[in-house]
Amino acid sequence: MKNKLVFITGGSSGIGLAIAKSFAKKGNDIVIFARTVSTLESAVDEIKKDASYFSVTKSRVNYYSVDTSNFNDTKTVFEKAISEIGIPDILINCVGIAQPNYFENITPEMFDKTIKTNLYATWNACSILIPYMKQKGGHVVNTSSIAGFLGVFGYTDYCMSKFGIIGFSEALRQEVSQFNIKVSVLCPPDTDTPGLHEENKTKPKETKAISGNAKLQHPDFIAKAVLKGMQQNKLLIIPSVDGKITFWLKRFFPGLVDWFISRSIRKAQREI
Ligand SMILES: NC(=O)c1ccc[n+]([C@@H]2O[C@H](COP(=O)([O-])OP(=O)(O)OC[C@H]3O[C@@H](n4cnc5c(N)ncnc54)[C@H](OP(=O)(O)O)[C@@H]3O)[C@@H](O)[C@H]2O)c1
Repeated sequence: MKNKLVFITGGSSGIGLAIAKSFAKKGNDIVIFARTVSTLESAVDEIKKDASYFSVTKSRVNYYSVDTSNFNDTKTVFEKAISEIGIPDILINCVGIAQPNYFENITPEMFDKTIKTNLYATWNACSILIPYMKQKGGHVVNTSSIAGFLGVFGYTDYCMSKFGIIGFSEALRQEVSQFNIKVSVLCPPDTDTPGLHEENKTKPKETKAISGNAKLQHPDFIAKAVLKGMQQNKLLIIPSVDGKITFWLKRFFPGLVDWFISRSIRKAQREI
């Protein structure tokens, strides 16, 4: 994980920013992509400052502003980045949004935004960059969630998108391994990011009641798990112990998990 060129979509905030810092600290070159220029600029400063604190001065950090849910714009910007900086060795797809709400409150516009931000953005980045990455091999990490293998109250549209990310990544991994491209999927638990703070504003009370006891993780903890999971070429990178237990319980005792969650929801609804 040294002297690589790393492209990170959604690298200006939260988990993406923490991953960018982790790679920069190890002496890799970083390019972050997001929409808001001011946030991108301050993220670049933060990544550079962090790397120089660890005495890494040769890491180059650049940014491009783009809405990765739009295929044509993403293609133009990624091709510009490739011609100016180079073909990435590593692609981390971290763009994502959650707008939790009761199913009946989710409008077609909200659904469209969730699917475009979570699914299209990942598809667009992979479909534009993989033909280039085939030339030298590499590693792609797409971001799903615990809600990518466990249905979560208030997250119908989000779960639809994050379950999709896992299926997409598993299929893609099989197709591109012949080109020496690895594919992993990150499934973070609740992590203390600007995205989660925004999400908490509309979370139904039932969701808060059933997920209230889960430990909130720091983005640096997630970033560390990503680098370790990539080194081990894991398909699923599930950083937290809670997340791993949930995954195995869901796989081997789905009825028990369903019963426990339904009971927690009913209890929360009685108390509300
Ligand atoms: N935080 C959690 O608890 C948690 C848990 C599980 C999974 N996840 C997943 O982890 C990923 C990162 O989450 P986070 O909490 O770190 O989010 P965050 O703090 O909100 O950061 C999201 C990043 O994506 C960028 N972005 C959003 N929409 C974009 C678009 N259309 N085009 C380009 N860039 C876009 C944002 O910048 P601009 O707004 O400037 O574009 C920002 O850089 C997401 O996929 C999320 O679903 C998070």
